[in-house]
Amino acid sequence: AGTVNYDWNVSWVWASPDGFGRSVVGINNGWPCPPIEATVGDTVVVNLNNKLNNQTTGLHFHGISQVPTPNMDGPSGVTQCAIPPNSSVKYQFTVDAPGTYWYHSHNMGQYPDGLRGSLIVKDPNDPYQGRYDEEHVLAVSDWYHNDSITVVQDMLSPSNTRFLPPMPDNITVNEGRGLHINLTQGKTYRIRMINYAAFGAVMVQFDPHTMKVIMNDGAYIKEEDARQLRLAPAQRYDVLVSATDSDSGNYPFLVSLDVNRDWTSATEKKTWAHNYTGYLVMDASQPLNTTSVVNEWKPVDDAHFKPYDGAAAYGSYDKLMKLDFNFCLDQNGYHRSCVNNLTYIGQKVPTLYSAATTGDQNTNPAIYGQVNPFIANYNDTVQIVVNNIDATSHPFHLHGHHFQVLERGASGVGKWPGKNETYAANPPMRDTVVVMPKSYAVLRFRATNPGVWLFHCHIEWHVEMGLTATIIAAPERLRNMTFPDDHIAACKKIGTPYQGNA
Ligand code: C2O
Repeated sequence: AGTVNYDWNVSWVWASPDGFGRSVVGINNGWPCPPIEATVGDTVVVNLNNKLNNQTTGLHFHGISQVPTPNMDGPSGVTQCAIPPNSSVKYQFTVDAPGTYWYHSHNMGQYPDGLRGSLIVKDPNDPYQGRYDEEHVLAVSDWYHNDSITVVQDMLSPSNTRFLPPMPDNITVNEGRGLHINLTQGKTYRIRMINYAAFGAVMVQFDPHTMKVIMNDGAYIKEEDARQLRLAPAQRYDVLVSATDSDSGNYPFLVSLDVNRDWTSATEKKTWAHNYTGYLVMDASQPLNTTSVVNEWKPVDDAHFKPYDGAAAYGSYDKLMKLDFNFCLDQNGYHRSCVNNLTYIGQKVPTLYSAATTGDQNTNPAIYGQVNPFIANYNDTVQIVVNNIDATSHPFHLHGHHFQVLERGASGVGKWPGKNETYAANPPMRDTVVVMPKSYAVLRFRATNPGVWLFHCHIEWHVEMGLTATIIAAPERLRNMTFPDDHIAACKKIGTPYQGNA
């Protein structure tokens, strides 16, 4: 295994992905941000230098397990302090599983301002090797003309009369660059789709080609045909698209933004207009066709996908973690989101540092502050039940582990009944799952990765509202953990009470 190195300066740069110019957070004076590309087993090193002048920053590597480097996971106030201007922090970790991932800022709602990119882990033992000729990344996102701080302040403000997150101004593909794939008869293309959005899910169709889905969120699945897919924020699908013998023209990728309403309801599912955001181009001399229409968005139901290895559901669980979430107001009338009636409050001392420095006390949830803490012992099988009291759908993401999706309740069925469930025998493994409106999901994971791991809605605006819980996995194995000097220097500079466990 090798090492891949990136030296990145993070700074504001000017960009206009949809024709509207604004400042975005870029890397090495450029934007879109560069990809990270590695092979399974490699060590990835990112030297991150904050040149933003007016904001702190940090990076999270979404879907990467971070075994055994929980202090490299990246969320500010959780596994490190925010990196202040003119400071640097080195991230170093191993990529132990192949797939399509992404990296993004996990600091102050910053990634919708642009600090995000693809993270591809190649697999020399890819079971689908030989089935495709070329591969491409298709990153979709919602896009805002205002900067995130403005958008978040407006959303939280008591003068906002509804709990709605800000509406995106546009939808982008590959950060406005689009994607044209030259189509050759007889060839197959692997398309690695990622949704970078802060709010919107996207519906995708490669008219008129059927996709063969081979991976969800960095886990191989048994191949499944899909005419349409829906990617919630942070979800990924790897699909194969083949040029058929009857192909003769140019075919658009149809992408439609869905602001997380109930796409299964008869009235909602027809209403989203689509954009033409890329093409399979067979004949460049012919015009790019924008005449095809989507009469109905009816994406494949991903809850029945099967893991490639056929793994069975964990047979039972040791711990039940039950989360009811809804929107709520804080005592000053600011809009928040609550998990079991408490909103998440970001900590000055990163939660992992608290776990590392409190000795025997670190198994006591009360020491962690208002982070909706949950303690799991090493190797516990944890069943997470998420009850969505709200009437829109929410994509939940777990750091540090993939989970099995045992059951996803249909829209509107209410809370987990707690009995008579029909669990999938061979559930899909994912790191981000959609919980339907006024419904629930039952997930299981095995706490094999000591660390402090967030479990949160990946609508970034809801993170800023506090829709987050914290799992402290194997606290007994975190005692006396130490942290790199540059991470501690960042804490000192931003004035956290934590001064290192020297
Ligand atoms: Cu993609 Cu908590 O993150």
